[in-house]
Amino acid sequence: MNFNEYPIDSLMYITNRPDVVFTHGKGSWIYDNNGKRYLDFIQGWAVNSLGHCNDGMIEALNSQAKLLINPSPAFYNEPMAKLAGLLTQHSCFDKVFFANSGAEANEGAIKLARKWGKKFKDGAFEIITFDHSFHGRTIATMSASGKPGWDTIYAPQVPGFPKADLNDIASVEKLISAKTVAVMLEPIQGEGGVIPATREFMQQLRELTKKHNLLLIVDEVQSGCGRAGALFAHQLSGIEPDIMTLGKGIGGGVPLAALLSKAEIAVFEAGDQGGTYNGNPLMTAVGYSVISQLTAPGFLEGVQARGEYLRAKLLELSEERGFKGERGEGLLRALLLGKDIGNQIVEKARDMQPDGVLLNAARPNLLRFMPALNVTTEEIDQMLAMLRSVLDSL
Ligand SMILES: Cc1ncc(COP(=O)(O)O)c(C=O)c1O
Repeated sequence: MNFNEYPIDSLMYITNRPDVVFTHGKGSWIYDNNGKRYLDFIQGWAVNSLGHCNDGMIEALNSQAKLLINPSPAFYNEPMAKLAGLLTQHSCFDKVFFANSGAEANEGAIKLARKWGKKFKDGAFEIITFDHSFHGRTIATMSASGKPGWDTIYAPQVPGFPKADLNDIASVEKLISAKTVAVMLEPIQGEGGVIPATREFMQQLRELTKKHNLLLIVDEVQSGCGRAGALFAHQLSGIEPDIMTLGKGIGGGVPLAALLSKAEIAVFEAGDQGGTYNGNPLMTAVGYSVISQLTAPGFLEGVQARGEYLRAKLLELSEERGFKGERGEGLLRALLLGKDIGNQIVEKARDMQPDGVLLNAARPNLLRFMPALNVTTEEIDQMLAMLRSVLDSL
């Protein structure tokens, strides 16, 4: 179909989108309405952990669709229980609540911390978060986020989210008061530009929160589910948080998210938390397939190896072109360009012929790479060759 034949004008404007309609995809490749293919290093924004239309996910979706789509969240269902069991087996957490988006999982984490504060900490409710953090687009998670401009766009904000500086423990300590109930952070700030919290900072945070009887909440919506080369990014620091949220990669592309906590923190009472689609079997069946594949022997070692390969190749490119290096963990990486040419590169890379490449500039002075976790080294080489030809044309 021609682009102009799609009723795109019926869609509410929220952002600028290119004049193509994507129609299908497989693995690391996605195709548009003109049949043009693109090597996808965005993958739905770090969502398609196993690439486009993964066979295991398709099988899970098809077989569950024939069995049961929605018994109501007021009842148990099989995939919901199986996925919760798999997540507690592979993490330090004991309890799981499923949601539909990262923002919703984070809303749940905020509620759980406030409930815990009410019960055990004299009504303490403040959650210390970080400048440049991103926790979602609901009013509370926007208030928790440290994205510039988000304090005014839908003002007034939800109160109770003082901001500290990432990797600066003194800035956190300074904000602690009798009102503080928790500290919440992304182990790797994704939208902020792929900025990892250091291992030392994560350990200092764990120590500080223990000392003051505060909860430590990790938002692993972007960094979790194998993206950082470990099943969960906080594991790279050898710490155990009290609460973790997952989104994006857990569903491999379908709307699924999760809130996990230690048993003693899981203080919701009947009616405190819910949502029509929580734990719905269609999505949790897919999540079970995704997490089973991520935890299969050798898979995460492969992510680490390909992450290391991408790291080395980006460093090589950086030296060759006089850029400012690279950073990240696993297959969430950024190339630091040193100048604001990111958006220009993204557009040129997408519009290349005959094949395009999908990249992202999380900030104007860097490129963020978030390929499928099963991307091949050949596809990484292909992406770099295409990126080089874009750079040549600038
Ligand atoms: C760290 C982090 N938390 C939360 C979110 C929000 O997730 P969702 O868009 O699924 O609501 C995102 C999305 O980019 C994220 O990167």
